[in-house]
Amino acid sequence: METVEAIQGRRSIRRFKADLVPRDVIERLLDLTIRAPSAKNGQPWRFVVTTGEAKSRLVETLQEVLEETKSKGQPTGSLQGSIQAMAEAPVVILVFNRLSREDIPEPYAYAKLLVDTQSLGAAIQTFLLAAQDMGLGTLWICDVLYARCEVQAFASTKEELMAAIALGIPAETPGERPRQDWRELSTWME
Ligand SMILES: Cc1cc2nc3c(=O)[nH]c(=O)nc-3n(C[C@H](O)[C@H](O)[C@H](O)COP(=O)(O)O)c2cc1C
Repeated sequence: METVEAIQGRRSIRRFKADLVPRDVIERLLDLTIRAPSAKNGQPWRFVVTTGEAKSRLVETLQEVLEETKSKGQPTGSLQGSIQAMAEAPVVILVFNRLSREDIPEPYAYAKLLVDTQSLGAAIQTFLLAAQDMGLGTLWICDVLYARCEVQAFASTKEELMAAIALGIPAETPGERPRQDWRELSTWME
């Protein structure tokens, strides 16, 4: 598949078939993902791949946080829908920032967060496009940040949780979601 085709064909997938994704396919995806660019080649990513029982425990953890948050009358955004997608997907990959540190003074802490976040975003998008190339569906999920501390405890890490990626064989074929015309979002200076 051409890169352009993968970019144009990718959609956020929220319905997945129950079929498992073979481990060697996930390993190949991660091997491609780490080729993403990163600031100073710092490679801030760490991945925790959850499947089977572990993935079910992750989903349960998120569901508990959802119920607790709702019971406090606090907003939960699209967390319920994201949990549903993760429950259906045979694989959920947690993405952590392994370079996250709490001892950096401002303004460097803010700059570092922005820089690491961009590198991690590049890695996640690389994963999504590689999966698209292999005929797999993905969902980039930041709703897991509602349960940041609980997910870090689940993965036994203090590293900053950045996102999750649901992965599996798509059970839906959504059309292209609306995009604002790039012409309205671009200016040219010559
Ligand atoms: C940083 C980021 C966070 C996202 N978080 C979620 C999420 O938590 N739950 C969800 O269902 N979709 C999430 N999405 C997917 C977006 O909703 C989706 O990309 C957007 O609606 C455009 O649709 P498309 O990906 O099919 O083009 C996220 C996407 C990005 C880039």
